[in-house]
Amino acid sequence: MGAADGAQGIRLWGGRFSGGPAEALARLSLSVHFDWRLAPYDLAASRVHARILADAGLLDADELGRMLAALDDLEAACASGQFRPTVEDEDVHTALERGLLERLGALGGKLRAGRSRNDQVATDLRLYLRDHVRGVAARLVELVDALVEQAARHVDTPAPGMTHLQHAQPVSFGHHLLAHVHPLIRDLARLRDWDARAAVCPLGAGALAGSSLPLDPQRVARELGFERAAPNSMDAVSDRDFVAEFLFAAALIGVHLSRLGEEIVLWTSQEFGWVELDDAFATGSSIMPQKKNADIAELARGKAGRLIGDLTSVLTMLKGLPLTYDRDMQEDKEPTFDAVDTLELVLPALTGLVSTMTVRVDRLVEAAPKGYTLATEVAEWLVRQGVPFREAHEITGSLVALCVARECGLDEVSDEDLAKISPHLTPDVRSVLDVRGALAARTAPGSTGPGPVAEQLAEVQSTVEQWREWAATRVVPR
Ligand code: ARG
Repeated sequence: MGAADGAQGIRLWGGRFSGGPAEALARLSLSVHFDWRLAPYDLAASRVHARILADAGLLDADELGRMLAALDDLEAACASGQFRPTVEDEDVHTALERGLLERLGALGGKLRAGRSRNDQVATDLRLYLRDHVRGVAARLVELVDALVEQAARHVDTPAPGMTHLQHAQPVSFGHHLLAHVHPLIRDLARLRDWDARAAVCPLGAGALAGSSLPLDPQRVARELGFERAAPNSMDAVSDRDFVAEFLFAAALIGVHLSRLGEEIVLWTSQEFGWVELDDAFATGSSIMPQKKNADIAELARGKAGRLIGDLTSVLTMLKGLPLTYDRDMQEDKEPTFDAVDTLELVLPALTGLVSTMTVRVDRLVEAAPKGYTLATEVAEWLVRQGVPFREAHEITGSLVALCVARECGLDEVSDEDLAKISPHLTPDVRSVLDVRGALAARTAPGSTGPGPVAEQLAEVQSTVEQWREWAATRVVPR
C-alpha cells in the first residue's frame, strides 16, 4: 500500500467539516494498513446487506444486480491486488466504499444505509476470528497428532517422572508425552466454546441504536453463518468479549507450548540427552561448530510472552470504556491479528520438531531408576505387609539415607543391613525394585502403567477426530 497509488481519497464523515483533517490526525486515525485483512469479511457482510436493502425496497432489482456484480468485481480486484487501499483511505470500510463508488458512481453510496462502521467492524472481526480460529484449531490438531504418534511408540518406555524437576517416580514416556496432549485438547474445546459464544451478529445495530429502516438482523445473522442477531444494539457495538476471550485462549495455548518447549530444551541438553532433534528442525551456532540448538522450542517458549501481552493490551484498553463505541476499540485489531499470526507461525514448527525428533530410549531406561525413584515402591510394599504408611515412609527414608551415604542403589543393600533398618524389610522387598515392575503395577485408569496408557492413547486418538472435523468446518459464506 502506498500514497503512490494516486487514488483520490474519500471520507465517510466529511459533511459537517469545513476542511480536511490535519496530517497528524489523519496519521493517528489510520488503520487501513492493518485492518485491510478484514476486506473479504466486510465484502461478505456487504453482499448480505445489499440483499436486505433490496428486500426492504431500498434498492430495486436492477440496482441490487449491479451492486452485487460490483461487490464481486471488487472482491476479485482485492484478491488479485489490482485494487489496493491507499493512505488516503482511513480504514478498510472507507477503502471498500471508494472501490464501490469507482465502480458504481452514486449507486455505490446507497450501501451504507442502515449501517455504521461500528456494527460493521464488530461484525467483520467476528467473521475473521471465527474463520481463523478454525485454522488455529487445525494446526493444534496437527501438533496433537505428532505428540500422539511419538507417545504411541513409547507406551512401554520407562522414564524418570519428575516433580520440582527432581527425579520422583518412574513413568511411561508415552504417558509424559500424552500429558502435553491433554492441555491442547482442552485448548481445542476452549476454542469451540468460544466459537459458540462468538456466533452473535452485531450487524443491524448501526452506530448504537439500530436503524429506522426496515432491516432484518436475524436474517443477516443467519446468512453470515451466525447463530443469532445481537439482542442489544448498544452491547452489539461495545462488546469485545469475543476478542478478549479469544486472546485468553491464545495466551493459554502459548503457555502450553512454552511448557512443552521448555521440556524439549531440557530433553535435548547434554545433561538429559533424552531426545535428538532432526537437523531440519535444529539450529547451529555461528562460532561453535559443534552446537545443535532447540531454537524452535525456545521460540515457542518466548512467543508465550507476546501472546500474554496481546491479551493484556486488549483488556487494559477495554477497562473503563464508556458505552458504546469508542475509538480506543480500534486498538483491538493488531493484538488479535498478532495472536493469530503467532500461533500460525509457531504451531507448524513445533509440530515438525516433535514429529521428527528421536527419543533416546537407552538414556531414558538408564535414567528412570536414578535418584531412588523406586523408594515409593518400597513404602507401598511395606504397606501391603501391614505397616502403617507413616512408619513405612520413615523406614524407606532411612533406607534411602543409607544408600545416599554409601552411594549405592536401593537393590544393593544386604539382607542384614535391611533388617537393621527395620525387621519389616525382608529380602522380598527386592521384588518391587524394578522399574518395569513398578510401571506394570499401575493398572488404575489414568495411571502410568502400560495398560492404562494404551487405553488413554486410544481414547485420545478417538477424541481428536471430533476436533479434526470441527476444525474443517467453514462458517463464513462467500
Ligand atoms: N477503524 C475503526 C475501528 O477499527 C472502525 C470504526 C470507526 N467508527 C467510528 N465511529 N469512527 O474501530
